[in-house]
Amino acid sequence: MCGIFAYVNYLVERDRKFVLNTLLTGLSRLEYRGYDSAGVAVDGDSEGEVFIFKQVGKVAALREKIESQKSLDTAKIFVAHTGMAHTRWATHGVPSERNSHPHRSDPTNEFTVVHNGIITNYKELRTILEKFGFVFESDTDTEAVAKLAKYIYDTQKKAVGDAMTFHGLVKAVCKELEGAFALIFKSKHFPNEMVAARRGSPLLIGVKTSKKLKVDFVDVDLEVPDANDDNNLLLPDQPKIRRTHSRAFLGDDGMVSPIEYILASDASAIIEHTKKVLYLEDDDIAHICEGGKTLCTGIRCFCNLHIHRLRRDDHMSSVRPIQTLEQELAQIQKGRFAHFMIKEAFDQPESVVNTMRGRVNFNDYRVVLGGLRSQLANIRRSRRIIFSACGTSFHSCVAVKSIFAELTEMPISVELSSSFLDEQLPIFRDDVCIFVSQSGETKDTLLALEYCKERGALCVGVTNTVGSTISRETHCGVHINAGPEISVASTKAYSSQFIALTMIALQLSDDNMQKVARRTEIINGLYRLSDDLRKTLELEPQIKQVAEQLKTARNLIVIGRGYQSATCLEGALKIKEVTYIHAEGILAGELKHGPLALIEASMPIILIMPKDRHYSDSENALKQITARMGKPIVIASAEDTSPLFNDLQTLRVPQTVDALQPLVNIVPLQLLSYYLAVARGIDPDSPRNLAKSVTTA
Ligand code: F6R
Repeated sequence: MCGIFAYVNYLVERDRKFVLNTLLTGLSRLEYRGYDSAGVAVDGDSEGEVFIFKQVGKVAALREKIESQKSLDTAKIFVAHTGMAHTRWATHGVPSERNSHPHRSDPTNEFTVVHNGIITNYKELRTILEKFGFVFESDTDTEAVAKLAKYIYDTQKKAVGDAMTFHGLVKAVCKELEGAFALIFKSKHFPNEMVAARRGSPLLIGVKTSKKLKVDFVDVDLEVPDANDDNNLLLPDQPKIRRTHSRAFLGDDGMVSPIEYILASDASAIIEHTKKVLYLEDDDIAHICEGGKTLCTGIRCFCNLHIHRLRRDDHMSSVRPIQTLEQELAQIQKGRFAHFMIKEAFDQPESVVNTMRGRVNFNDYRVVLGGLRSQLANIRRSRRIIFSACGTSFHSCVAVKSIFAELTEMPISVELSSSFLDEQLPIFRDDVCIFVSQSGETKDTLLALEYCKERGALCVGVTNTVGSTISRETHCGVHINAGPEISVASTKAYSSQFIALTMIALQLSDDNMQKVARRTEIINGLYRLSDDLRKTLELEPQIKQVAEQLKTARNLIVIGRGYQSATCLEGALKIKEVTYIHAEGILAGELKHGPLALIEASMPIILIMPKDRHYSDSENALKQITARMGKPIVIASAEDTSPLFNDLQTLRVPQTVDALQPLVNIVPLQLLSYYLAVARGIDPDSPRNLAKSVTTA
């Protein structure tokens, strides 16, 4: 999983320093997607020359390296320039300079490529290209793409004496690729042009123009280039790629205006430049070139962005609308906090309100989710509901499972997306499958979605990313509206997913009169939730002390039951991922079936014990633990005056409706994992070996 970024300017003077800074800043916004190494490619001093800089480590290390290049003329001015950048999370090849992107076709940098995704047939491509004399410099799958571009370009030129168009070349390359990719190409043969392609990995383009240009949409050239489209271009007999004319243009005021394009894996790297973006679809090839040309159709083309299709798809829209991002830059910055993780945990009193805004009516106790309206009857008619997700998103599904079943009276199952396909679960046309994903790009969840769609199930997406693949590929869905989540460890997305799923259950059950009292109780709880979370966050100083006390622990157990089962799993996941302490979430009912053997005086234990219908069972668990000299720290209700806790350390949280209590109880565990990470000298925003969005299976 990686982040890719590119910056292109036309008719506006930019010096190399500006370009480099834009690329590096873009990368730092994407760093949460991967941060084991980074690199950039920018124009050199002479026409067609390309400079590549790479560095192992974070973007800051790359910036330092570039700044130390004394001979680099950073004042060199470009009226048009294409630059590309990449921040890596290793999939093929260890983190190292030679494996970091951009990758190149040859030592003169004829073609440079940045890539997010996985090319599954890269070994076959590499073997063929090595036979043709290419010498590989890295262990990556991406390098085969750059070399393939050169191979096809050279072969085509030799065969028909005519160089291909840049986008025609990229189409030919992409036809040879299997797997998932968002790719950006730069070439010394096509100075001031850039081509981007996507299949299975996210990529969007920000368009920054002068005010004169009206930018509403970009036409898509749906023509495929050649009847022999499926021919294998690696065979010696090369089919000639017919040039296609794009009908794409932006604005028509007769003026050629300065324009800048920002390409990125997600909006967080674009927003500071422009709010106008278009999302590429799978098999789109975007070609950015110098505009001001008159096409053969007579249309004067002032924009320089053309979108072509890799394959014919009669259902594909012929325009890509330019959308306006609603995020503010401030929303994706840290504010007063040292890290995104703690900032996002503290966002929760507000983000949960945003999730409910305009959807929960606290006056008439109705819940209306616009995104589900068209399928509501079908969902109600279905025979069962299957949730699928990974990691924290999976835990949000586990957390709502029982309230969902109680309200909807339907059979509910929760499946890990990562084992969905392994198990080949039987899925039927009358099933409803709900895919929950913060990023909307998690590969395992996408594969599960594909699997269920193929079997005719009604697929619902619950994501935090507008325009993400899951939100587009599902039949209907709900955006959780938690705002951008930058920290690798998910906090506010968890609470918003929980609420979004609860809202779905509330809406589905609003025709069941027997559920009125329960629905009313939950909606009242949702009304108070923001305040409850605010009060819970006041535990911060106490939790800092607990973190100091536990910072040298090697193991930690989180125990609970009933509604808190998911809280244990999610709390333990947070602790392991940012503190590297081995943490386990244990369901209290299971204690005597094995885990009790772990209990001794030195084992750090957190017991979650709210005042709900499982209280007396939790009391038994507490007794089992203390009888073995265990001294748990108890997350208990502020209203619970029981003498049970007299000799124990407690974290007192507000009491709310049983089904919503996990939303409150997870907060101390989020804060504890954060402060443990800080106390152990770990950057919680960039835990080792992890990336924010896992776009590979
Ligand atoms: C943990 C975490 C991960 C993600 C998981 C799924 O803090 O964030 O476990 O929840 O990788 O990601 P999404 O929700 O983007 O599908």
